[in-house]
Amino acid sequence: MSKVFKIVKDKIPSLRKKCEVVENPNDPAILQLIDEMHDYLVLSQDQEYAEKHHIREGVGLAAPQIGQNIRMLVVYYKDYVDDKEVEIDHRLINPKIVSESVKKVALSGGEGCLSVDDAHPGYVYRPYKIIVKAFDAKQKKEVFITARGYESIVLQHELDHLDGVLFYDHINKKDPFERIENSEII
Ligand code: NI
Repeated sequence: MSKVFKIVKDKIPSLRKKCEVVENPNDPAILQLIDEMHDYLVLSQDQEYAEKHHIREGVGLAAPQIGQNIRMLVVYYKDYVDDKEVEIDHRLINPKIVSESVKKVALSGGEGCLSVDDAHPGYVYRPYKIIVKAFDAKQKKEVFITARGYESIVLQHELDHLDGVLFYDHINKKDPFERIENSEII
C-alpha cells in the first residue's frame, strides 16, 4: 500500500523555511521516503484512486510539502514526443541549479500547487532552460539534468519549495499578466 501523505498547506510556517541538506543520500530511509513521494505522485494521477483518498492531482512534490524540511523532490508526468509516450520521472536529492538561460518561460494558465488551495492568477516567469545538479535516487549517483519549457518550470517550482518559496511570490502584483522581453508563454 502506498502512503497517503497529509500535504502541508501554505499557511503553515514550516513551508516557508529553508530546507536542510541531506547528509547521506544513500541512507535507506531517505531512499524509501523519496520512493514513497514518487508513488504518491503517480497515484495522484489515477483519477479513481485520487477521488477515493481525496487527494489532488500533481506533477511534482517537494519534501517540505509532506512535513520533511530536507532538500529532496520528485517530478512525475507523462509527455508525448513524436507521438510516443515518455515518462518524466525525477527523484532528486540535494538538487541545485548550476546554469540557467536568460530567456524566460511561463505557463499560459499560471501554476498550481498541492499546498495552495486559493487561486493566484498570473504569469510565473522562470528561466526557459536550466541545468540541475543532484543526487539521483534511482541511479544512486550524481547527475546533471538539462530541462527546458514545461519540465524546467516544474523542476523550478519544486526547487523553490526547498527554499520556502511559493509560485505566487513570483507574480507581479500590479500587473499579473505582464509580458516581458525574451520570454515565451506556453
Ligand atoms: Ni508546489
